[in-house]
Amino acid sequence: MRTDKNNINIAIFASGRGSNFQAILDNIHHGRLAAQVVCVISDNENAGALEIARSNNIPTCFIHRKQFGEKQEYEHQLLCILQEHNTELICLAGYLKLIPTLVVREFKHRILNIHPALLPSFGGKGMYGHYVHEAVINYGCKISGATVHLVDEEYDTGVPIIQQCVPVLENDTPDSLAARVLQVEHRIYSEAIQLYAEKRIKIEDRKVRILNTSSGMI
Ligand code: GRF
Repeated sequence: MRTDKNNINIAIFASGRGSNFQAILDNIHHGRLAAQVVCVISDNENAGALEIARSNNIPTCFIHRKQFGEKQEYEHQLLCILQEHNTELICLAGYLKLIPTLVVREFKHRILNIHPALLPSFGGKGMYGHYVHEAVINYGCKISGATVHLVDEEYDTGVPIIQQCVPVLENDTPDSLAARVLQVEHRIYSEAIQLYAEKRIKIEDRKVRILNTSSGMI
């Protein structure tokens, strides 16, 4: 059951500092997002995201594949945690591990990720953090941006829901570009979650249509 029946229950997966998670919390707080974060899951005990969760009294869980012998035990444990908190939507916010197959299948079309580039460019295994922005600059791109997409069993290959561009400026460093992209990330991730909560996302093959009104389906 939802804690507040009008809000969607989201579980955050994060490996790092958690600025996207913080932006989601801020948007909830300001009434821009009808959601509640029911738990934060991390593969990194020292993740800033876990600190943010604790200071907001949100349940946390540190879970790593290496804690388990069999892959199935790990997958089942993850699923149990998600179900225990009545998770409706999973939001990856700087989570560096692949989501195991069992979880992807159980949460089909119910897992979102934010990527700091315009997919399918500059995505895939190893393309995270400053590596992305470095690659964009080294390629000589004039634009970059952020993508919110559905998650499947590979890195960064699920269908895009929202994409937004930012310019790449002549004197950009990976850090200055990352900061410009991050501002966009913090806005469009909550927008996508809100569209999901309003059931306004319709998937037709690899196309996502954003409906004007709720259709009751994804
Ligand atoms: C963001 O750039 C996000 O796009 C990517 O990982 C980074 C996480 O940053 N998936 P933060 O931990 O949310 O600050």
